[in-house]
Amino acid sequence: MSVLAGKRFWLVGASAGIGRQLALCLAREGAAVVASARDGAALAGVVEEMLPVLTAKGGHAAVAFDVTDSACTIAAFENVGEVDGVIYCAGAYEPMSARRPDLGLLETVVDVNFTGALRVLSACVPAFCRRGSGHILLVGSLSGYRGLPNAWGYGATKAALNHLAENLRCDLRGSGIGVQVCNPGFVATRLTEKNDFRMPFLMAPEAAAARIVRGMARNRFEIAFPFLMAMALKILAVLPKPLYFALLGFSTGRKGKAA
Ligand SMILES: NC(=O)c1ccc[n+]([C@@H]2O[C@H](COP(=O)([O-])OP(=O)(O)OC[C@H]3O[C@@H](n4cnc5c(N)ncnc54)[C@H](OP(=O)(O)O)[C@@H]3O)[C@@H](O)[C@H]2O)c1
Repeated sequence: MSVLAGKRFWLVGASAGIGRQLALCLAREGAAVVASARDGAALAGVVEEMLPVLTAKGGHAAVAFDVTDSACTIAAFENVGEVDGVIYCAGAYEPMSARRPDLGLLETVVDVNFTGALRVLSACVPAFCRRGSGHILLVGSLSGYRGLPNAWGYGATKAALNHLAENLRCDLRGSGIGVQVCNPGFVATRLTEKNDFRMPFLMAPEAAAARIVRGMARNRFEIAFPFLMAMALKILAVLPKPLYFALLGFSTGRKGKAA
């Protein structure tokens, strides 16, 4: 039996893509899911589709809210009921170059991807600390390892989530609360539909969700996939900056000094 069986998770970003598949996958493992996002009708569909599960803390539920609104986030947390853990999978993405910034879109990306995570964590973590148990999973991205072209705003939010997960891991050591960060490569969702380039190792959201659930059960700090892409980006991440920028310039065909 899975170690996730009998647990109840608050999954923020469950209405579509990776989060939707993650909800279905967790239910198959015997975990109950409180599915959140803005689209209430889509959340109701997820709850209907999940295998029924009843845990000591309750069953599946849908709580619709907008992570960019602090008051709504607090109210949503009050409606969620008792949970064993929280998964922050909400995300917004716009391919953007620093040469053509769109401040309105950038503000949304930062608000959903990073400030939204702070809102959700500020609601949950004190309750987990009082109880002396909990499980936190933040969904980052391999694009957060290092500065990449056309990831203006988005890449920085994913780097920030990785930093935040490390902060949490340090601060919550010995508290009974487990912290994990998940860094996926390219996954075929409405988010990556916006990309007009060939995406190496593109995965189906079902496969990504299965990989995340396996990682949650193993309880390693980082869940990074697909393996080859994660390894390649990990190597790039430790290269000295001049070498990294030279390699990137070579692969994108853009030469010249960065500053
Ligand atoms: N797809 C990839 O290649 C890839 C790679 C690495 C990391 N990721 C990360 O994986 C996560 C899921 O992405 P995805 O590809 O599955 O995208 P997606 O299909 O667009 O799903 C994004 C989820 O976030 C929710 N969301 C967006 N804005 C929200 C808001 N203001 N309040 C509450 N919920 C909100 C969406 O629901 P509503 O619209 O109903 O609110 C949806 O459930 C994101 O954090 C993304 O950055 C994706």
